[in-house]
Amino acid sequence: MEKVNAVITAIGGYVPDYVLTNEELSKMVDTSDEWITTRVGIKERRILKGEGKGTSDMAMEAVNQLLEKSGTAPDEVDMLICATVTPDHIFPATANIVSDKCDIRNAHSFDINAGCSGFLYALDTAAQFVKTGSKKKVVVVGADKMSSITDYTDRTTCVLFGDGAGAVLLEPTTDEEGVMDSKLQSDGFGRVYLHQKAGGSVKPPSHETIDNREHYIFQDGRHVFKHAVSKMADVAVEVMDRNNISSENLNWLVPHQANMRIIEGTANRMGIDKSQVMINIQRYGNTTAATLPLCLWEWEEQLKKDNIILAAFGAGFTWGALYLKWGYNGDKK
Ligand code: ACO
Repeated sequence: MEKVNAVITAIGGYVPDYVLTNEELSKMVDTSDEWITTRVGIKERRILKGEGKGTSDMAMEAVNQLLEKSGTAPDEVDMLICATVTPDHIFPATANIVSDKCDIRNAHSFDINAGCSGFLYALDTAAQFVKTGSKKKVVVVGADKMSSITDYTDRTTCVLFGDGAGAVLLEPTTDEEGVMDSKLQSDGFGRVYLHQKAGGSVKPPSHETIDNREHYIFQDGRHVFKHAVSKMADVAVEVMDRNNISSENLNWLVPHQANMRIIEGTANRMGIDKSQVMINIQRYGNTTAATLPLCLWEWEEQLKKDNIILAAFGAGFTWGALYLKWGYNGDKK
């Protein structure tokens, strides 16, 4: 029997209209465009405005665009995975809500929470279902409304995050392309450095937790930074080595967009040039589960049968790298 691979056949994306600039943030907290640009590399980020709007609304936009572009009817989708740390509700899963909003009714759907590595985890999980022949058309969407858990009085975190969503369609192929290899890892020791203190079962919401601003992102940036560079680069290099990929035959690195210095550090360790790296952090900031698909979405027209390494690091800690062989000429779509 021929080996079945799982290949991305279409991509959709969505960012909200509202642009939150470094200048505007400088009026809200004690920061400056100069500090944010040099320490993080962000100039602006998008924020989802509007009463009652949540992560599923952005995911819906990305998924609908994907279905339309690929000529896929909602009923043809047989699985949908949503990666997010900002679900519409603790339950039900945001994936269930997105499926409903996109009229996807023949699929089973579920969420994956793996911090900023969420899209990587979800893509790898989806690929396993496609490779075994169990599923034929799988939607993977990474979406986060980080503004809903960002404390806009805390200058150490509020400059970092933005809102957005990106989605891909995975289908079977017998060609030598698609999700070729991956290395995903997690280690819960890192949970103390990056988490949301209250709102879960350990510390349910109360007046006290609200007063203490414990429903917002807590991050010890220095610790996270240190681990992010080394761990992301370690797995990216390992995946390159075991697939005989070098700086010469690697077309693109798609890194999680948390900090320009982390991106540069990872690219340096991999021995590749910055021109081989997809970077849009300056315009969107860290959209958590949406960073990787938003890059692919923006670069789609330039993509051919390229060798691509996706790499991420996030809350958990979680991290990983995935080798993807792109399946179509983006400019012909
Ligand atoms: N404006 C001005 N000054 C600031 C700001 C700001 N926005 N934020 C912090 N500072 C100050 C600090 O208070 C500190 O001042 P001090 O020396 O007087 O105490 C000084 O700048 C340096 O602070 P550091 O935290 O050491 O700054 P650093 O260079 O490490 O940058 C940052 C902070 C950007 C958060 C960095 O540590 C980082 O990128 N960490 C990793 C983020 C990441 O990868 N997260 C994982 C993904 S997120 C997820 O999974 C949801």
